[in-house]
Amino acid sequence: MDPQRLKKNFALVGGKGEDVAAYFYADLFEREPALRTMFPASMEKQQEKLLAALSHIVSLLDDTETLVPFLQDLGRQHNGYGVKEEHFPLVGASLLATLAYFSGPEWSKELEEDWAAAYGLAAQIMSEAAAEAAASQA
Ligand code: HEM
Repeated sequence: MDPQRLKKNFALVGGKGEDVAAYFYADLFEREPALRTMFPASMEKQQEKLLAALSHIVSLLDDTETLVPFLQDLGRQHNGYGVKEEHFPLVGASLLATLAYFSGPEWSKELEEDWAAAYGLAAQIMSEAAAEAAASQA
């Protein structure tokens, strides 16, 4: 995985602002309509939060000491939202579809592989922390 390549690509895509998050959620809810009920009626705030979190994660890709606890916290919060391990691949698929769409001709096999690897790691850390939080509540 090449953090610099991901940062560069995210700067290109993230610079397109709210359209990106709107596209992502539209894709996700089309993929799995049942997920819509987990989110608030108005998605405006959520869209900002998602972009801010992604941007923070991307900025920390080469600082795992800071990134891992951030993802663990986020994972524990997601346990409270009712998010399950099986939801993560759906979100990953929508994220990659969104990045590919907004990257246009810049999109490449390497970017696809790097994003899949980065998302896979983030999802693993988040879902492990969520599962631990769930177990300690039981
Ligand atoms: C890398 C993956 C993910 C990131 C970076 C992420 C990021 C975020 C952030 C930043 C928030 C807002 C937390 C706050 O209010 O402070 C949030 C909330 C939420 N996320 Fe995620 N998320 C991820 C994966 C998922 C997955 C797999 C699902 C499953 C459907 C999901 C569903 C939700 C829900 C339901 C909320 C709460 C909405 C609300 O009630 O306001 N997220 N997420």
